[in-house]
Amino acid sequence: TRHVLAIDIGGTKLAAGIVSDTGALIDTDRTPTHADEGPEKVVERILDLSRSLLRRNVVPVARVGVGCGGPLDTTLGVIQNPPNLPGWIDFPLVRHLHDALKLPVVLDNDANAAALAEYHFGAGRGTRHMVYLTLSTGIGSGLILNGELYRGKHGNAGELGHLQVKYDGETCNCGGRGCLEHYASGTNIARRARELAARHPESLLARSAASLHDITAQSVLMALQAGDAVAWDLWNDTLDLLAAGVASIVHTFDPERIVIGGGVSNFGPLLFDGLRERVQQRSMPALMGGVEIRPAEFADNVGVFGAAAIALHEPQEVLA
Ligand code: BGC
Ligand code: NA
Ligand code: ZN
Repeated sequence: TRHVLAIDIGGTKLAAGIVSDTGALIDTDRTPTHADEGPEKVVERILDLSRSLLRRNVVPVARVGVGCGGPLDTTLGVIQNPPNLPGWIDFPLVRHLHDALKLPVVLDNDANAAALAEYHFGAGRGTRHMVYLTLSTGIGSGLILNGELYRGKHGNAGELGHLQVKYDGETCNCGGRGCLEHYASGTNIARRARELAARHPESLLARSAASLHDITAQSVLMALQAGDAVAWDLWNDTLDLLAAGVASIVHTFDPERIVIGGGVSNFGPLLFDGLRERVQQRSMPALMGGVEIRPAEFADNVGVFGAAAIALHEPQEVLA
């Protein structure tokens, strides 16, 4: 059996694992990160996690797979300037990891990695045309076209969180305007909920947390379930924005299936039913007719499985 070390770098947490080529997760560990920590500190944490995993699991590890938010350049192994990892500017992540671990390292976009995991082992099985969307700290996607992950020139194809759903909208962390992510990612749902709660102190949404500062996407879900009108206004608007993005995805790729993961997918039927109905109304019936929109099957650990899938299955050039 071959084993790989899989590393998932997220906006709020870092996870690593050892995975066998049969897809078994041998061991895994995680640690929180802080958005403003900067890449050197994160590399130290990755190395700490990795070394302790390698120490306590005596198996030969052939390769390292890393999933990280983009934009990045997979051919150079460099992280460019991700909207949700402030301070990472043209950071040579692959070189740092290779120098320290002395193993070949493969890099890909975090959502590309997750898309591969869902495609091979999860909610994408049996399809050839699948779009994976993650609604998490940011919004990312992975495109499976004709049975293969489509990367584009540098690995940045499918930056669908930055589809501009409001042409005159607010500025996103990426520098663009009116991006889907700026309204509908977990962090941005929470941000918008705090803004609304400040204007409606009597609402259940405002009273759902100890202070405005403590309002999260989870508070929105609780307020929705309790029938709070302010939360419902926010949620209906969020669904409209998501549907605008998803309709454009349907028109661009003519997919069989759209798989949605990330923390916001925990809104369950409130997300999936509301979205299906709206996407139906907004897209060309001939295209939307057969598209399934369904929840991801992997939960929290999708990033680690995804990074493993990259290391195990992707014949792309390995740097160093
Ligand atoms: C980044 C994507 C990433 C997504 C999820 C977005 O802000 O642009 O590259 O996949 O967040 O982490
Ligand atoms: Na992607
Ligand atoms: Zn953007």
